[in-house]
Amino acid sequence: MKLASRMSILPPSGTIGMLETARRMEKEGKTVIHLEVGEPDFDTPSHIKVAAVKALEEGMVKYTESKGIPELRSAIASRVKEKSGCEVDVEEVIVTPGAKHAIFCAALALLEPGDEVIIPSPAWPTYKDIVQFAGGVTREVPLSRDYSLDEEAVKEAVSGKTRLVILNSPNNPTGGVISKDEMRTVVDLAVDHGFYIMSDEIYDDLTYDGFKQTSILSFDEARDISVLIHGFSKSYAMTGWRVGYAVAPRELVNAMSKIQQNTTTCAASFAQKAALAALIEPQDCVEKMRREYDRRRRALVKALNEIDGIYCPTPKGAFYVFPDISAYVKDSVAFADKLLKEKGVCVTPGKAFGLGGEGHMRISYSASMENILEGAKRIHEFLLSMKRR
Ligand SMILES: Cc1ncc(COP(=O)(O)O)c(C=O)c1O
Repeated sequence: MKLASRMSILPPSGTIGMLETARRMEKEGKTVIHLEVGEPDFDTPSHIKVAAVKALEEGMVKYTESKGIPELRSAIASRVKEKSGCEVDVEEVIVTPGAKHAIFCAALALLEPGDEVIIPSPAWPTYKDIVQFAGGVTREVPLSRDYSLDEEAVKEAVSGKTRLVILNSPNNPTGGVISKDEMRTVVDLAVDHGFYIMSDEIYDDLTYDGFKQTSILSFDEARDISVLIHGFSKSYAMTGWRVGYAVAPRELVNAMSKIQQNTTTCAASFAQKAALAALIEPQDCVEKMRREYDRRRRALVKALNEIDGIYCPTPKGAFYVFPDISAYVKDSVAFADKLLKEKGVCVTPGKAFGLGGEGHMRISYSASMENILEGAKRIHEFLLSMKRR
């Protein structure tokens, strides 16, 4: 079949191959410890489900306004104000079927073919794929060794063609959190050079050791040049509900809305009601999950750093660790494949996360403590069975 040439730009997900092998093994009766997972292992809190059921029973089964139901957009505006101090009008908020769709709409609405987009990497692969699909050219810049932002590298990557920089803090896959000063540097650069900032803050409720996420909207100068990406998948364990959102200048929200009107129409009606309940009802469920992630994070980092030759910076946020295993591993894809087949542990090869990812693996601690500790033990044994390079 002759597909459109643009399809050659879009690679399959970097993790899908691993999952397929894992599923095959499971069908054959083998057990796999899944540490590749990019979603919370918790159930959606019950009061959120109750709100969805109530909405269904009340007949909320039709299309909604394309930008989302007004009460949810208003609750999002309040939440953003609470976190960043930034006064947001509901017309600057769009609800989307997942944060991923918000990123897709924003990239299509902002990028001309050939526009350059700076992405500090390793990074979530979707940014690169969507930017390239939208005709943009990605400029990956390395993070520092401890996964903080390398401000000099970002500065050096700016050119006359820079249109956008994509920040993701807390970060998938590194767990790094961008400091206020580092963010300020990017805001100053964007203002001086006239480019936009996309700030994906979807993991902002999941930070540890007293680190706090600084929202891009806490900088007054960033308001007119930023699109904040967020959603309900991570904080409220709602990946399958598909509700995300963006906060951006009205003109950009209107452009994104035109794309949404002609593609998905809107996020699912009753899921929007569930998201509303998530925002306005008590937040102890979020703190409970965060504490449990924290407990697992400490145990996993400790176990990994006990392996001779491994360097595992302590993540400040999200639910991933990204240890440097280059003392043992040159090809992270072959390593992950062998680890799965020989030890029954599924992780994501670092190479999937672009520049600086090779020689690493992403381990998700969105798994039971038992599986995390058993997985770490098997990884330890497996690495020790390999020759150090
Ligand atoms: C950094 C980041 N942003 C966005 C998303 C996608 O979120 P959603 O489920 O709302 O599309 C993910 C999911 O893995 C992610 O890691």
